[in-house]
Order: sequence, then C-alpha cells, then structure tokens
Amino acid sequence: MPPPLWTLRRYEECESTQILLKAWAEEGAPEGAVVQAQAQSGGYGRRGREWVSPPGNLYLSLLLRPSCPPHDISQMALVAGVALAETAGRYTPGVILKWPNDLLERVGGRKLAGILLETELESGGQAIKWLALGVGVNIASALSEIGVALNDLAGKTVDRDAFRDEFLARLEQVYDLWREAGLGPVRARWLALAHRPGTVLKIKLGAEVLDGYFEGLDAAGNLLLRLEDGTVKTIASGEVHFGETGGQADNKNAAGD
Ligand code: BTN
Repeated sequence: MPPPLWTLRRYEECESTQILLKAWAEEGAPEGAVVQAQAQSGGYGRRGREWVSPPGNLYLSLLLRPSCPPHDISQMALVAGVALAETAGRYTPGVILKWPNDLLERVGGRKLAGILLETELESGGQAIKWLALGVGVNIASALSEIGVALNDLAGKTVDRDAFRDEFLARLEQVYDLWREAGLGPVRARWLALAHRPGTVLKIKLGAEVLDGYFEGLDAAGNLLLRLEDGTVKTIASGEVHFGETGGQADNKNAAGD
C-alpha cells in the first residue's frame, strides 16, 4: 500500500499518466495525487520525446503543490532524483544520477529512469498552482542499446509496486526535507549519487555545444561546468551527455535530457 501522503489511481492503459493527472489537478486533486498506468500509448518525456511504455515498467505521475517561487521548481528534479536513485540503490549499486533528471547505469550509461516536470502557474505567474511530476522506470524491459532494465541490473525480478511504494515513501521524506531545510541537504545527497567532479561532459544549449568538466552544482541546483580555459560556466538547463557517449539525444527514451 502506498504511504499516507499519496492518493493512488491505477489504470490498465492510458495515453499518458501526465494527461490524466493534469486533468485531475484542474478538478482540484489534492497534493499527493498519483496516477499509475500499466502501459501508456502516448507516454512522453522531456522535449516532447516519445516515452515507449510497454507493460511491466513503472509509469507514475504525481501532483505536488510546492509553495516555492516558480524559478525554484527545477529543484524538484533533484528531489525526485535523490528518491529514485536511493530506491534503485536498494536493488543494485550500479546506478548513477545525471544532471538534471536522469538515472543511468553507472557503467555504460544506459538509461534506467527519467523524470519530467510540468508546471502550471497561478494567474500572474508569481506562484505555482501545481507540479505534475512524471517518473518512468524501466523495471522489466528497456529499449535495446540506450536503455537498461532494473531486473537486469539487479539480477532478479523486482516487484514493481514494491519499488513504487519505496519510491513514494522516500520522495515524501526528501520533499519534506527540501521544504524544511531548502536545497542544501538534498543537493549533498544528490552529489553523492551522481557523476564525480571532473567527469567529461558535453552540453548542448540550442545550437551551441559546450565541452568541459563537471565541477558540481551551485546553491540553486544549477550545473557548474569547468571549461578548458579554467572558467566555470553556470548552466540552468541544457542537454547533457557524458564525454564521447553523446549523440543519442533524438532517440526514443534517450539518455540525453
Ligand atoms: C525523460 O527522461 O524525458 C522523462 C520521462 C518521463 C516518462 C514518464 S512515464 C510516466 C509519465 N507519463 C508520461 O507520459 N511521461 C512520464
């Protein structure tokens, strides 16, 4: 059973749990509303990319109503990332977070899970009406080459709904920490679960491509990239790839953000 914050609605198949949750949000769903589907016919990820969603994997959308300023909402990708990586870490040590919202296989970089944030602002744009937090986890299967399934990393069959409940319990705990103490302690946990400082990164910012080294995250959760000339650039959003392994960003369920 899911823990108390959460009110779960389950579907056999839908177009996208995001679409169902956003409709529920507009009808006044409480914070903690969750939609889960066994399969999705039109699942989507960041930048409108298709999220291929056969039965056997975890497809969740969660409604949160954080009272932070709208520009801080991207920190929720780090909050959810910590909960996701810590949950997956109970099954395998072989996972790593990639800024801002991917959970990857530590060796090989194939994608295990992705996080999607969609926000509706109050009229006037000064406050958040709701956040639809989408989470897709490859439990039983993944797209070959670019994805990896938790069952394969764990070497056993993972109970998808037990994973869901563990994730929801951790998310509630990390979300509470973020609301009470701010990003600082969450950021520290995220960094402990992520690629090391000095990791070679390639970042696409529209047409511009930046090559550099991961330096860490600033106090607001932005990525710090050290360039070859030693200067450090602050990145608020962009497509991030590890070293030579980039170039798959246009694929379905791709490892690029
Ligand atoms: C990404 O890595 O681009 C984020 C992928 C998010 C996919 C999940 S699956 C559940 C929810 N419903 C959707 O249509 N998308 C999210």
